[in-house]
Amino acid sequence: MATGSRLVELAATAAGCTRCPLAATRTQVVFGTGDPDADLMFVGEAPGREEDLQGVPFVGRSGQLLDRLLVEELGLGRHQVYIANVVKCRPPDNRDPRPEEITACRPYLEEQVSLIAPKVVVTLGNFATRLLLDTDQGITKLRGAAYPVGDVQLVPTFHPAAALRGGGVVLAQMRADLVRAKQLIGLSS
Ligand code: URA
Repeated sequence: MATGSRLVELAATAAGCTRCPLAATRTQVVFGTGDPDADLMFVGEAPGREEDLQGVPFVGRSGQLLDRLLVEELGLGRHQVYIANVVKCRPPDNRDPRPEEITACRPYLEEQVSLIAPKVVVTLGNFATRLLLDTDQGITKLRGAAYPVGDVQLVPTFHPAAALRGGGVVLAQMRADLVRAKQLIGLSS
């Protein structure tokens, strides 16, 4: 079966998921969006209010910044990459996802990465980076490099919300990390 069809099947399974208490408070599951055959995948933390309402990841303010950086640094639209989150349901009041929620949701993300088989995964912020690199180190220390994980190159960077809060320096570092990702997927700079 083609990757796209298998992802659609997995999304349908996830849509009825009750593996953790976030099922009770979500409007809908925010599974992921984009090209199932993408070379580049982004992994964020968890849906916020807008994402919960629309069922699409990164459509709020952080998403608008991500879209802008995608175009400006990679010349790509969001339909040319794949975008997902560590946790597929919105934590109430945008609190941090809890360890048991991350554990319950992890198989969906692992299956997404395995089906899409991107060349590069850019992790946005601490939650995605710590999960996929299996570390408890922080993003400030880890960013600025690429890490091989199986067949994938993992490029950690800040969450766009951190750039919205932190301003120019954080944004410049995010841009540099995206240039690194661009080089790794073989797009010329
Ligand atoms: N922040 C995230 O980590 N993911 C989203 O989908 C939106 C905001």
